Amino acid sequence: MNAQAMTQTKRQGAGETLQTTGDSQTLMEIKDLRIWYRTTRGNAKAVDGVDLTIQRNEVFGLAGESGCGKTTMARGILGLTRLPGYVESGEAIYYRRTSDSTSVGSDLLTMPAREIRRMRWRHLAYIPQGAMNVLSPVTRIEKQILDAIYEHSNMSKEQARARMFECLEMVGLEPAVARMYPHELSGGMKQRVTIAAAVSLKPGLIIADEPTTALDVNVQQVILQELREIAKSMELTLIYVTHDMAVHAEMADRMGIMYSGMLVEVSPIVETFKEPLHPYTQGLISSIPAVGGGRSRMVGIPGNAPSPLNWPPGCRFHPRCPRVMDVCREKQPPMLEVAPGRLVACHLYPTPISDTTPAFEELRK
Ligand SMILES: Nc1ncnc2c1ncn2[C@@H]1O[C@H](COP(=O)(O)OP(=O)(O)OP(=O)(O)O)[C@@H](O)[C@H]1O
Ligand SMILES: [Mg+2]
Repeated sequence: MNAQAMTQTKRQGAGETLQTTGDSQTLMEIKDLRIWYRTTRGNAKAVDGVDLTIQRNEVFGLAGESGCGKTTMARGILGLTRLPGYVESGEAIYYRRTSDSTSVGSDLLTMPAREIRRMRWRHLAYIPQGAMNVLSPVTRIEKQILDAIYEHSNMSKEQARARMFECLEMVGLEPAVARMYPHELSGGMKQRVTIAAAVSLKPGLIIADEPTTALDVNVQQVILQELREIAKSMELTLIYVTHDMAVHAEMADRMGIMYSGMLVEVSPIVETFKEPLHPYTQGLISSIPAVGGGRSRMVGIPGNAPSPLNWPPGCRFHPRCPRVMDVCREKQPPMLEVAPGRLVACHLYPTPISDTTPAFEELRK
């Protein structure tokens, strides 16, 4: 029986959904999430029908072209949607473990703002796109980290300072950094500070949105590996966002590919790269330049991403899909589990895949 089937739901009053689940590995369940922006030209349906289950202690990578809705989704599931964006529908249920090992779930989308604030840092941490620019230029690093620790925990001054130094060390920064101002630090050091702050209260879930795109490739690689190691050693769940497929290959246990406000494929990382199922995923992977890899041609994806003001009917990818069929123009494909742990929304896979699925045979050529 899957987690959803075993879930018993009891509405607890405004904004609080208490649930117990038989699957204690589930950290978050996102159901039919739609986050739209009101614009003068109509609703921009940035996130438009996302279903996803996040497991405890996994590193989950979210990929997709610019504008496909990654940031809107990342902020949305943490209850951080701001006008002109709004939650049109859906749930994002976050499960906390209680002392008797049951999982208690709360919908972060309907939770009152003060409750969400209480969860921040202790349960949920967000490292935003361009995070190093969020550090206050006129405040020493130690004050920025300590203020957050005091606000969100009951730690004494001594405990908070000890925790701060522990976290700075964890991200490879000297204690002396605590007394510095952001302008005295390199981009990589500033990014490490934001990671130290995010992990300081051992949150259950960290979402990092393009945490390293402003950094040079070598620093990027090192910091991402550190982030992954910290997540694993602290047994927390990390969702990180980037359009860079090569980074996902290094980082993720599992990944989700977004296209036009929806997920089109969710698979373990090895399978995603070895046998990508969705033609869009295949296009993204073929766009990665091979490292020292002969002269094989990068294929890429023809055409441009559509506008969230007007998604194409049927499968939203059909105008760009090299394998488009008549049904794709008319009917949106449902997300199906076509092999254990492998979800894809594509008419090429109407039933579970096997070695004789034509689309799958094609893949292997
Ligand atoms: N404040 C806003 N008002 C109107 N539309 C918006 C707003 N913010 C985002 N959008 C639209 O929502 C869509 C998704 O944006 P989002 O920032 O979530 O994409 P993304 O996948 O994170 O892109 P990137 O890789 O460039 O960061 C885009 O088409 C964008 O134009
Ligand atoms: Mg973004």
